[in-house]
Amino acid sequence: MNNETLATVYHGIIIHSLDIGNLEFIRNGLLAVHPDGHIAFLERDVGQLVKEHLFIIFSYSQVVTLSKHQFLIPGFIDTHAHAPQYVYAGTGLDLPLLNWLSTYTFPRESAFSSPTYALDVYKRVISRFLRNGTTTCAWFATIHLEATKLLVDVIRANGQRAFVGKVNMDTCGPDYYVEKIDDSVKSTRDFIQYVLDSEPDTSKSSNSSNTAKPTRLVTPIITPRFAVSCTAPLLDSLSTLASEHDLPIQSHLSENPSECELVQSLFPHCRDYTSVYDHYKLLTPRTIMAHGIHLSSEEIAILRDRGTGISHCPNSNFALQSGVCDVRRLLNAGVKVGLGTDVAGGYAPSILDAVRQAMTASKACKIQYLARAEERVERDPDYNVLTIPEVFYLATMGGAKLLNLEDVVGNFVPGKEFDALLVDVGVADGPIDVFDHDTTESLFEKFLYLGDERSLRAVWVKGRRVAGSSNSDEF
Ligand code: GUN
Ligand code: FE
Repeated sequence: MNNETLATVYHGIIIHSLDIGNLEFIRNGLLAVHPDGHIAFLERDVGQLVKEHLFIIFSYSQVVTLSKHQFLIPGFIDTHAHAPQYVYAGTGLDLPLLNWLSTYTFPRESAFSSPTYALDVYKRVISRFLRNGTTTCAWFATIHLEATKLLVDVIRANGQRAFVGKVNMDTCGPDYYVEKIDDSVKSTRDFIQYVLDSEPDTSKSSNSSNTAKPTRLVTPIITPRFAVSCTAPLLDSLSTLASEHDLPIQSHLSENPSECELVQSLFPHCRDYTSVYDHYKLLTPRTIMAHGIHLSSEEIAILRDRGTGISHCPNSNFALQSGVCDVRRLLNAGVKVGLGTDVAGGYAPSILDAVRQAMTASKACKIQYLARAEERVERDPDYNVLTIPEVFYLATMGGAKLLNLEDVVGNFVPGKEFDALLVDVGVADGPIDVFDHDTTESLFEKFLYLGDERSLRAVWVKGRRVAGSSNSDEF
């Protein structure tokens, strides 16, 4: 350990996922973060002698000793959210998807033609998501180039790690909120250039002695809204743009039965909804598809074969009456899965809420199967609901894998970047009561079910503190 180059050393309980079934509780951990934001080392079961002399051993570093009700966890990863829709989150949840889009979404999103309005909203939504512990987010913006650039600026200023997409839609929208194909492609090109030029990729030129290289904070992502709102030539152009610039892609897939029927009628030459995206070469290992509720086994096999993953957005799926996504079935088939809030189809700007609703959705699946025995036998005779380790994995490492950031964030493996949350279940006037019988495991579980932004004393991205309920200088 070369302590001269260490910025901060944390000592205490550290919890992270090593794999989907492997949640590690480190009771006496020591985690050091380099000044450049990389994790230098993670020691387990630190001896009493080291514990007593931390301030001497790490005299060149800031040493932070966590209290017994505090622990470090990796930052949450929201793999699907709509930044402009935050203005009406918690309202307008009385309609199913297609009516919801035309009644609430399109009128609200069209207001982002005003950069002043966009700037105000985007500052508030990014701050809110960071306070809720979302250190990485895959964002949909609107069709507007200027407003979407502002979203990137706000994200960078606030220090969130993000994928940001200018939304593309050249058909089936109202007159006041639809693009011409040429404008759609040109402004997407301009947007990509803006994001890439305004934050040069340092990962190739770094001379850091560390093996891990710094990564970009904001990445542009190709964002056809969904197959309904894009013509075939636009889908073609967008897949070309994605491959030209080697970019990720995000969209919506198989969310609502009426939507699925509409897609089938718009693309009769394709066998199913998934095949539409596949036909236009939009299913890549870097593609994130939101929802994926009503998929056939053939469609799931296509996703698996292409390396495309699903953003599971249970709050939205319940709120818009879309259906219940069977995550177990996707996992069993080898499809990557992460969690998403889908604000504002989902009303909560918090991955903790997504964790809870993913649990409920999984139980709803089991209840449905128990009631329909023939489906249960066909799909999974020993249907197991998702477990706490599994859902926590989806909220952190699963999201990182879905975004192809598994070498950068998601857990505390040395060399990764320090995107982390300092959880305090004992925070005064907080949402959790601690009892004598509580263990580290039960407090962690209570945090997942009962915690909120008050429980997050500090939120870090790349080692930089970006939010948190603590006013203390310590964090
Ligand atoms: N499908 C197309 N657009 C949207 C959207 O904004 N939200 C959700 N949930 N589904 C969509
Ligand atoms: Fe969505």
